[in-house]
Amino acid sequence: MTSTEWSRRQFLLFLGRSAAVAAVAPVLAQAGCSPQRFTLRPLRPSREDDFLLADGFDYEVLIKWGEPLGASGENFGFNNDYIAFLPMEGPMDRARLWVNHEYINPYFVSGFHSGEKTREQVEMEMYEVGGSSLLIERVHGHWRLSKEQAAKTRLTGRSPIAMISDRTVAGSELTIGTLANCAGGVTPWGSVLTCEENYQDYYGDVRFVDGARELIPGWYAWHKHFSYPPEHYGWVVEVNVETLNAKKLIALGRFAHESATVRVAADGRCVVYSGDDASNECLYKFIADEVGSLHRGTLFVASLEQKRWLPLDIRSQDVLRENFTDQTEVMIRCREAAHLIGGTPLDRPEDVEIDPETGSVIVSLTYNLAKGNYYGSLLRLNEKNNDPLALEFEWDTFIAGGPDTGFACPDNLAFDRAGNLWMTSDISGPRIGTKEYETFGNNGLFFIPMSGTDAGRVIQIASGPVDSELTGPCFSPDGRTLFLSVQHPGELSRQAGRLTSHWPEGGDNTPRPAVVTISGPALDAIMKGRYEIG
Ligand code: FEO
Ligand code: CA
Ligand code: CA
Ligand code: CA
Repeated sequence: MTSTEWSRRQFLLFLGRSAAVAAVAPVLAQAGCSPQRFTLRPLRPSREDDFLLADGFDYEVLIKWGEPLGASGENFGFNNDYIAFLPMEGPMDRARLWVNHEYINPYFVSGFHSGEKTREQVEMEMYEVGGSSLLIERVHGHWRLSKEQAAKTRLTGRSPIAMISDRTVAGSELTIGTLANCAGGVTPWGSVLTCEENYQDYYGDVRFVDGARELIPGWYAWHKHFSYPPEHYGWVVEVNVETLNAKKLIALGRFAHESATVRVAADGRCVVYSGDDASNECLYKFIADEVGSLHRGTLFVASLEQKRWLPLDIRSQDVLRENFTDQTEVMIRCREAAHLIGGTPLDRPEDVEIDPETGSVIVSLTYNLAKGNYYGSLLRLNEKNNDPLALEFEWDTFIAGGPDTGFACPDNLAFDRAGNLWMTSDISGPRIGTKEYETFGNNGLFFIPMSGTDAGRVIQIASGPVDSELTGPCFSPDGRTLFLSVQHPGELSRQAGRLTSHWPEGGDNTPRPAVVTISGPALDAIMKGRYEIG
């Protein structure tokens, strides 16, 4: 093995423990050895229709919506979101990138404007969600899409997917498609967890009134052409990124899963944290029964009042036995069950990350307009004895958003290999630049040192094009490249009656969601701790 190759051990360590990255990833020796410190100047908020970066950072577009994926004959889907960098055995200059495709904008994807959507239009939309599994390579220091892609590159809204469950779900063992793929996670065995978030928009949802099942239509109206049950969506989906075999993990519950963040306990079992991104919904964690599998285990919901994780287990909860027929029904109607046993309603829990230094669980609470919470906050939860298997915890607010701290509506989070936190914001499109949000500009990417004199400061690094949201921040193992999704530029074009963004191609071009790679001397300086904030 040479120093430019991943050994099997390094590869598994990288996947299994983010805290181990510093120990196993290649050192930054090639990052330049200047003894000078970099002066990092925060980017000012902007409303410009461009992807802007603070001085010392550069970016390149890696792939855009609609681009072909080699011999697979597939195309890159719409509204790229979560990104996972998966080292492959062998040369470090090759890797696999998993990218989620969260939702569609019919205006761009199917040309649907009003009236009745045709079956063909629905099929076009179904193709654009799910995920892409890409082969990338680093050439002269730049990550590029490899010319040789695997035979299978896409999961879509039409892919058949098994459900791992005690019994059938809505009468079936198989579901058609994955959709609303927002954020996710990576398992220690190298599979990706892709999370179905706002599933209710596609085939609608169900509610149960006096035992009767009622259908609530979804606004994309896919149900008019395809009668797939809403119970088949809203799950965490585990994907083998090589074969694209996928399975929906019923034991992790059904709700608007933002992410599925994996932490490995001392006994080797996985714990998966996941927020339900809806107003006044809850935070969950799943403790697997067995090492190396997420098929079975116990799902818990957080009670901040009791500072406890409460089990969503029909065997131990009388109130669940009184209201649901079996454990599978508890999982399908997870929100109802969580509230019945005392889960704490939160201000839209989005991404979850584990601080690699302290083990703190950091949760984005994006905002909650109904409660007058415009800016959101980062919740910090410390498991008792720093044990992910613990059922007790302490919590506090790590940072609150607002004009004083310089950010609003936190969403995706990522820790870099130096232990700093990175955060993206998601002010909803129509509110950008208005009233309470006037000072924040377009959505952005922020850097938060976690130690030293600037610990807890929020430094803006990037500003997205008009109407966009930056999502899926993901570092290469050497820390020198940050992969980032630029999602839904120009989203309000239809309402505006004109294209509100032309990013990334400029001119009169249609806006396109895209994945960018960010690098540069400022990022290298941050990784080496040789910077000061100017
Ligand atoms: Fe898909 Fe909650 O962001
Ligand atoms: Ca999100
Ligand atoms: Ca994340
Ligand atoms: Ca959001």
